[in-house]
Parts: sequence; structure tokens; C-alpha cells
Amino acid sequence: MNEKFLDGKGVLITGGASGFGEATALSLAKKGADIVLVDIDEAKLNNVVQKIKKETEAQVFPLICDVSDSEEVQNMAKKAFHELDNIYVLFNNAGIGNIYGPDLLRMKEDIFDSIINTNLRGQWLVAKYICKKMKRQKLEPLAGKVICTASIAGVVANPKLCAYSISKAGVISMMKSLAKTLAPKITVNAISPGYHVTGIYKTYEAMKATMNDGNVKTPLNRVGTIDDVVKLILYLVSDKSNFTTGHNFIIDGGIAEVGLPANYLDSDV
Ligand SMILES: NC(=O)c1ccc[n+]([C@@H]2O[C@H](COP(=O)([O-])OP(=O)(O)OC[C@H]3O[C@@H](n4cnc5c(N)ncnc54)[C@H](O)[C@@H]3O)[C@@H](O)[C@H]2O)c1
Repeated sequence: MNEKFLDGKGVLITGGASGFGEATALSLAKKGADIVLVDIDEAKLNNVVQKIKKETEAQVFPLICDVSDSEEVQNMAKKAFHELDNIYVLFNNAGIGNIYGPDLLRMKEDIFDSIINTNLRGQWLVAKYICKKMKRQKLEPLAGKVICTASIAGVVANPKLCAYSISKAGVISMMKSLAKTLAPKITVNAISPGYHVTGIYKTYEAMKATMNDGNVKTPLNRVGTIDDVVKLILYLVSDKSNFTTGHNFIIDGGIAEVGLPANYLDSDV
């Protein structure tokens, strides 16, 4: 893959202050992209921006925005197009986790609302206010690429992460509609990670507890890394994936494909 294949291209990443968003920003900056990083956590966001500026020659702009708030998203979109010459890649990625445990009947309304608002409505609002203008960009052969972060919880419903599962199933469905709406100028795909240690789990121990409690075992016998996900994103933003749109890419060490057969229950993970 050409070292600087994103030279002259702009990238907007939501949830850019941590986890997949942070690592993707650094990786795409190294490939020549200029970046707008969006997050609600100002302190973390500024740290990430400084780190990327130190390690690359990219232009990086932090924008504080709650993706679930329409007015904030509209302002953010205006500023983003002002800062960047184009937005070739939208990584629609900001998201929050679910309290692990309460089923749909015990779930509190305010928790359900906040997860749907951030994880699903947030991605829709960002797509709504970024993609119209993206589609008009005179870039060839594609005007842009959108990647939405879903989850295996959106593929295999998890009753202990019910609001989260519903939000991510919604993201996969939204991605498919968006792919049809934006074709043939923009490709739209989703990624569905499994279990990867990021800020959303806080610690490796918290993730292990979640996995143990849910009897989650990975056939590939390890927890996912952030780098596993970045490698998939590199493919999706490159021209190698130009004929691919409307698909959900699962990256989970095999959990969603095989379910939880008994022979995996004695794995170390
Ligand atoms: N880590 C995993 O194993 C895993 C698995 C499947 C899906 N995901 C998804 O990956 C995406 C990225 O999460 P991560 O794992 O990197 O976690 P993370 O907590 O490290 O990063 C998420 C970022 O989103 C930001 N954010 C949260 N709410 C926001 C809002 N309303 N507006 C703007 N920014 C907001 C947070 O401040 C944080 O910086 C999420 O959509 C998450 O659901 C993660």
C-alpha cells in the first residue's frame, strides 16, 4: 500500500480522542491525510491532537461536539468543511457502552435513550450533515468513503447488552440505506468489532469479567487489539475496497460466526 495514499485527502473521525478513533487518526495521518477529530472529551482530544502533530506532518483540528446533539453536529460540520479542503473519509465511530446486565424489561428509560441517542442517532446526524456535501465533491473515482462502527452485538443480539445491541443493529441497517443513498459517488461500509481493549471497557480486567460472565470465548483464542481494527480500516479507506459498499465487516476473532460452541469454553480468553 502506497505510504502516502491519502495525500490531499481530508478525514473526519468521531470519537477521535480514544480507542479506535485515536489509533485510526494517527494511522491515517501517517498515510498523508489531514484530520478533523471530533469528541466530547476536550482534554483527551487535545492530547491526541498534540501526539499526532508530533509524530506526523498532518494538519489536525480538534472539534468538541456531542454527536447526539443536532445543533452541535451542524456547527461541527460547518467548521469541519472550513478546516479541510475535502472530507474524503468519514469514520462515524463515536459510541458508548451499555451497563452489562439488565435485560430489556429492567432497562431504565434514560439509559436506553442515552445509548440510542449517542450510538445510533449520533451516527445518523453526523452522516446527515456531512454526506450531502461530501457527495458533491469533485474527487475521482469516488467522492468519498464512509465507515460506520457497529459491533458484533448488532449481529448477534446480546440480552445483557440489549440497548447497545439494538443501537448497533440500527447502525448496520442505517449503513445499508446510506450506501444506497450515496451510491455511486460514495462507498459506505460498517465494521463490527468483537472484544478489543479500548476506553469503552476501561481495563483489560473489566473486559475479561464481561467475557467470562457472558461465556464469550474467541475461536482465535485472544482478545482483539486496536491494531486489528485499524488494519481493516486501512483497507476500507484504500482504493483496494473501491468496489465494496453496503457491507458489514465483522472483526471479532470468530465469535459471531461460530457462536459459542462448547469446545471453545476451555480457551484461555
Ligand atoms: N472496544 C470494543 O471492543 C468495541 C467492540 C465493538 C464496537 N465498539 C465500538 O467502537 C466505537 C469506538 O469505541 P472504542 O471502543 O474505541 O471506545 P473508547 O471509549 O476508547 O472511544 C470512544 C470515544 O467516543 C467518545 N464519545 C462518546 N460519546 C460521545 C458523544 N456523544 N459525542 C462525541 N464523542 C463521544 C468518547 O469520549 C471516546 O473518546 C464505539 O462506537 C463502540 O461502540 C467497540
